[in-house]
Amino acid sequence: MKDIQKVTHVQNIRYDKEAEALYIIDQTRLPNEEKEIRLETAEEMYTAIQTLQVRGAPAIGICAAYCLYALARTIPEEEPEAFLEKLRAYGAYLNSSRPTAVNLSWAIRAMLATAEEHWNEERAALLEALYQKAAAIHEDDIAKCAAISEYGLTLVKDGDGILTHCNAGPLATSRYGTALGPILLGTERGMRFRVFSDETRPLLQGARLTSYELHRAGVDVTLVCDNMASIVMKNGWVQACFVGCDRVAANGDAANKIGTSGVAILAKHYGIPFYVLGPTSTIDLNCPDGDHIPIEERNPEEIKTLWYEKPMALSDIKCYNPAFDVTDHSLISGIVTEKGICRAPYTESLAALFDNKT
Ligand code: MRU
Repeated sequence: MKDIQKVTHVQNIRYDKEAEALYIIDQTRLPNEEKEIRLETAEEMYTAIQTLQVRGAPAIGICAAYCLYALARTIPEEEPEAFLEKLRAYGAYLNSSRPTAVNLSWAIRAMLATAEEHWNEERAALLEALYQKAAAIHEDDIAKCAAISEYGLTLVKDGDGILTHCNAGPLATSRYGTALGPILLGTERGMRFRVFSDETRPLLQGARLTSYELHRAGVDVTLVCDNMASIVMKNGWVQACFVGCDRVAANGDAANKIGTSGVAILAKHYGIPFYVLGPTSTIDLNCPDGDHIPIEERNPEEIKTLWYEKPMALSDIKCYNPAFDVTDHSLISGIVTEKGICRAPYTESLAALFDNKT
């Protein structure tokens, strides 16, 4: 129990109100070193998101909200008229750090809306409103992850094998996480799962973060390379796939870490249910389908040199390095949100989440 709480209550993003200082755990150093870094300037914040020091769709949204509050504090008080303009510019700058996860623009929009509501109040009141909004986005994600974990837990039973891709645990969110939430919650309640964590090339979130979190929490986790998912499924070791998401389109197409759609195709072949877990802040009803989701392309050096002592490809070899892919809605057995589990047809079930305002 104690170990699980160490994992689920990790302070991946921490705003110290007394010191007025924003800290994150630098995820690029894990699993070898758990180190907090402080983010002070807009450039440091942009770099932290762009280089994945803070990563995972909900986490970058939460972080960006605190970033905007911290940046709002730096705008000179003598310039009330210019306040909104400057804050919007900071918002646009942070938003340009990564394009795919919709939580980033969602959180920035929410912070700017709060600023627009309070901009002509005393500066202290305006800043307090911004701080409260950022803290509420954070608190809200904790509650959403807890609810997602409960719903997700209804989809598996004691002893099941679960395959996951990338990292959608506490480090990528808050508390239990999304795709790892049911596993951590179930483990806390005495259930046993056998988890297969895809390594997740090229940035190794599965190896560095998921297997780290699950192992520390006492979960039976086996690390496999991405190209081993098929044999693991064929062996009969997987009863369900749980993955996170960065943006879910109105028709249920879901963008997640590159390689996720391959897992879904394999799962369909082997008759294994494939679930996408994420908060409603990841659902983008303005985006009709997966073809409209912007896909981030990253530096080819992540493939050729990043983890190697010597380059593993000639320096002039062409590379294609998309950070995400889109899983077609037809491959998804259910989308697990904090409001419940959506099933096909997703155009209806996802829209209903927002209609009811529950
Ligand atoms: O590039 P990353 O590591 O930010 O990609 C993260 C993912 O794809 C996660 O699965 C997703 O953001 C969901 S996190 C709950």
